[in-house]
Amino acid sequence: MTSPSKCKLIVIDGLDGSGKATQTKLLCERLRADGCKARTLSFPDYQSDGSAAVRMYLGGKLGDSPDDVNAYAASSFYAVDRVVSYLNEWGRDYKTYDYIIADRYVTSNVIHQMAKLKEEERDDYIAWLYDYEYRRLEIPEPDLVIFLDVDPDISQRLMRERYQGDDSKKDIHESNVAYLLSCRESASYAIEKLGWTRIKCDNGESMRTIEEISDELYTIIHSI
Ligand SMILES: Nc1ncnc2c1ncn2[C@@H]1O[C@H](COP(=O)(O)OP(=O)(O)OP(=O)(O)O)[C@@H](O)[C@H]1O
Ligand SMILES: [Mg+2]
Repeated sequence: MTSPSKCKLIVIDGLDGSGKATQTKLLCERLRADGCKARTLSFPDYQSDGSAAVRMYLGGKLGDSPDDVNAYAASSFYAVDRVVSYLNEWGRDYKTYDYIIADRYVTSNVIHQMAKLKEEERDDYIAWLYDYEYRRLEIPEPDLVIFLDVDPDISQRLMRERYQGDDSKKDIHESNVAYLLSCRESASYAIEKLGWTRIKCDNGESMRTIEEISDELYTIIHSI
């Protein structure tokens, strides 16, 4: 098992386009302004060879549909990316930093891969995943998981604006709306079952401001 660390590993997850990168960066800046030693991580690590299989999968080289690669196979691809980056890069920082803030983590397997399974298969999957990544691969468990919850209609609209109608820029997850909706269901299950902290990022019609969400996140961090 990984030895206990003083470093708090905070994970920020959510569906596509929910503001993960934005909030990860802002939180890190605020913690640094407080004098804490903090850094960010972002998964998948597209620059790393560790993400080769993930890139093949998201790029459609293993099939056009997310379902062409089963939940366990695809989860393994992402797990490899994480353990490679832990061994190669941030494992050292985890011993000395106050905070590491990750934009996606093992939690993204729960959201995006568990969505491929039947409801009655979810608990087995979670047990397998936790054992595999945290116990066998020995990457650290997060101290806190924040789920950025955005109404799917609003996130689709944001994504359209982002890609300006050019669907060819989307990966196989982003381009499949039915799949995104099942990811939302698996996320709801995980929030309840795994005790993730949910931040509601819209007011029903539009997004709350980046600053409002960041303030809520910062308050939560201070409470741990
Ligand atoms: N609260 C907000 N209100 C309006 N726009 C936002 C808000 N938060 C983020 N955005 C914008 O939405 C887009 C997506 O944000 P960001 O990249 O942070 O999301 P993400 O969850 O990391 O996305 P992805 O899943 O694609 O990696 C960016 O253009 C960002 O500036
Ligand atoms: Mg992002």
